[in-house]
Amino acid sequence: MSAIVDVTSVLEVLRPVQDPELRKSLVELNMIRNVKIEGGNVSFTLVLTTPACPLREFIVEDCQKAVRQLPGIADVVVDVTAETPKQKDLPNRQGIPGVKNIIAISSGKGGVGKTTVAVNVAAALANSGAKVGMLDADIYGPNVPTMLGLESAQVMVQQGASGEVLEPAFNHGIKMVSMGFLIDKDQPVIWRGPMLNGIIRQFLYQVQWGELDYLVVDLPPGTGDAQLTLIQAVPMAGAAIVTTPQNVALLDARKGLKMFQ
Ligand SMILES: Nc1ncnc2c1ncn2[C@@H]1O[C@H](COP(=O)(O)OP(=O)(O)O)[C@@H](O)[C@H]1O
Ligand SMILES: [Mg+2]
Repeated sequence: MSAIVDVTSVLEVLRPVQDPELRKSLVELNMIRNVKIEGGNVSFTLVLTTPACPLREFIVEDCQKAVRQLPGIADVVVDVTAETPKQKDLPNRQGIPGVKNIIAISSGKGGVGKTTVAVNVAAALANSGAKVGMLDADIYGPNVPTMLGLESAQVMVQQGASGEVLEPAFNHGIKMVSMGFLIDKDQPVIWRGPMLNGIIRQFLYQVQWGELDYLVVDLPPGTGDAQLTLIQAVPMAGAAIVTTPQNVALLDARKGLKMFQ
């Protein structure tokens, strides 16, 4: 049986379908690829801008409806994938090769749920199919290993082409390095600015992160050296400040926000 429709006519009926957030045609955004027609069966790949797209089901439905307008269509199969766009580069900031977006999670005060938010953001992104890493930079409370079930994990040091590189721990689909791996759990640590600066830079640039869509950074509370190092070192796609509703907590959160602006 000869094909009833061709690729051009499929793209034509899909052209009016828009990405609801970008408000542009999926076809014009090059999000429809690999159109195949076999008899009355049409299949294509829908390439979203994030695997976490909350509207994916709606977009797929819109696409299927559009293609069904053509005569003789038996089935429309949409294979959904995602290509996460890379954040914008900034002058004087050295991005991490292979890492597309860096997200900082910070807070004014401790104990407000920062790590809980950071781990859940990372886990949700990983669940949706994104490649995710976590950098636990909270020197005062490096709790990410506990929350990811990696308490007894260690960072492995390997000899890379350009010196020593750290191999991150891995669980729940998340690659992770933590300040907790470097310090004695029962000893108080006194970090001086330059030391902390050095460790954070090492965690950014000397870890085998590989290809990551998102690197989520759990920062210590406040507006100290860790925040400053991160902001000055890498370009950031976004930052979240976690707070509780009390006035004093909000006051500190606002200060934290100013730092990232
Ligand atoms: N939304 C929430 N509601 C109630 N308790 C929470 C919530 N988020 C976190 N917690 C609890 O509060 C405590 C502190 O959370 P954590 O994420 O470690 O805070 P932080 O990283 O800011 O110090 C933990 O015991 C955690 O289980
Ligand atoms: Mg914490």
